[in-house]
Amino acid sequence: MKPFEPRSIIEPFRIRSVEPIRFTTLEQREAALRQAGHNPFLLRAEDVQIDLLTDSGTGAMSARQWAGMIASDESYAGASSFYRFERAVQDVTGFRHVIPTHQGRAAEHILFATIARPGDVIPSNAHFDTTRAHIERQGAQARDLPCAQSRDPTLRHPFKGDMDLEALRLTIQEVGPARIPAVMMTVTNNTLGGQPVSMANVRGASALARAHGIPFLIDACRFAENAWFIRTREAGYEQAKPIDIARQMFALADGCTMSAKKDGMSNIGGFLAVNDDELAARCRNLEILTEGFPTYGGMAGYDLEAVAQGLYEALDEGYLRYRVRSIEYLGEKLLAGGVPIVQPTGGHAVYIDARALLPHIPAQHYPAWSLNNGLYLVGGVRGAEVGSVMFGRQPDGSERMAHLDLVRLAFPRRVYTQSHVDYLAEVILEVAAQKADLPGYRIVEQAPVLRHFTARLQPIESGR
Ligand code: F0G
Repeated sequence: MKPFEPRSIIEPFRIRSVEPIRFTTLEQREAALRQAGHNPFLLRAEDVQIDLLTDSGTGAMSARQWAGMIASDESYAGASSFYRFERAVQDVTGFRHVIPTHQGRAAEHILFATIARPGDVIPSNAHFDTTRAHIERQGAQARDLPCAQSRDPTLRHPFKGDMDLEALRLTIQEVGPARIPAVMMTVTNNTLGGQPVSMANVRGASALARAHGIPFLIDACRFAENAWFIRTREAGYEQAKPIDIARQMFALADGCTMSAKKDGMSNIGGFLAVNDDELAARCRNLEILTEGFPTYGGMAGYDLEAVAQGLYEALDEGYLRYRVRSIEYLGEKLLAGGVPIVQPTGGHAVYIDARALLPHIPAQHYPAWSLNNGLYLVGGVRGAEVGSVMFGRQPDGSERMAHLDLVRLAFPRRVYTQSHVDYLAEVILEVAAQKADLPGYRIVEQAPVLRHFTARLQPIESGR
């Protein structure tokens, strides 16, 4: 017999514990959406059939994670669960000091409250919105320096998450190293479509920062997915193990923030990890105030256990191959059906270009909001608008349309199977076929900041 290369990439797990999906009718979904002010964030999750609102904290845990959780040590100080967590983080990242936090933004809070001052500038390939908010809260500026290729959604480029290194050089020259407390790199680049960053780019940014004595930090939420893209797209890494790629990347940095709700494969948790002894001591002092004692930092012992195991499972080759392939598989079906998406597909989500799909809805009537609501009405699918509702309101209350109007379909880890993805593709193509009936929306109630979470909207009657 000869070995064969199967074309089907099967889910690399068996399902031993299941959660029912509640099926609803179109009438029920219309009523639910109306009641939610036409805002999917305000829906009850039980009214959603396929929930792709986020990949954060929504994954399924493994039997090994649950086993660790049952056997956890809940001591307030010095719990063995903390030491297992610390050992796992040190093993994967190589950083000396591990500071647990309840999720990613808590690590950002502690870090930036400790290092950022008014007037400072913190460059990044693209900051996530909580990272930006924590930097701005200190009176500092969060500056995005994405590579030029990231601006064109249809351009296929292997590392659209890269930073523009020339722009980084100019920023350091203009601002001066004394006012740059850190250079950050977000892997993968969530804001720009879950696109990966190459090792060459990480190396280049790290070298520039370090040449000027500036700490280089990684927002590591999706570090394992990024490692897989390096392995499959960057020359020289074809044979490398994902864990070794991750270690190489972290070795180029002085620390990281992490939301373990993504590639920690856990429902909650995070950490800040750094090499600098003095910085770690200052961060731990603030941690005690806001998160808790440094050996639990906002997590239960069982959460620490789940992350300690989850970090390794996220780096499993079979898992990563399935993970990235299932996103790509949906992307291929949509492209074949003529639905415009951000290309190539990234690590955790498919982003549909709603402005391109719905030219009859002007940007000020929020085409991505409309498309997302259409997906819910037709198929009970919940995605998230990443467009002008999310980004359009300026601090002075004026409106400025976002660069793109996208619907993000983010995949929980190890939750949905290929038949769910097939169903999803059917729903999206059906909505595209009925797109002339999708209305624009106007906002009738909104909060001054982060309005997309709570805003209430109304469809605009077309008059047809
Ligand atoms: N950094 C990135 C790149 C993220 O995507 C997120 C969260 C965070 C930091 C903050 O982590 O939620 O644990 O506090 N992203 C989620 C999302 C919310 O849906 O993309 P957190």
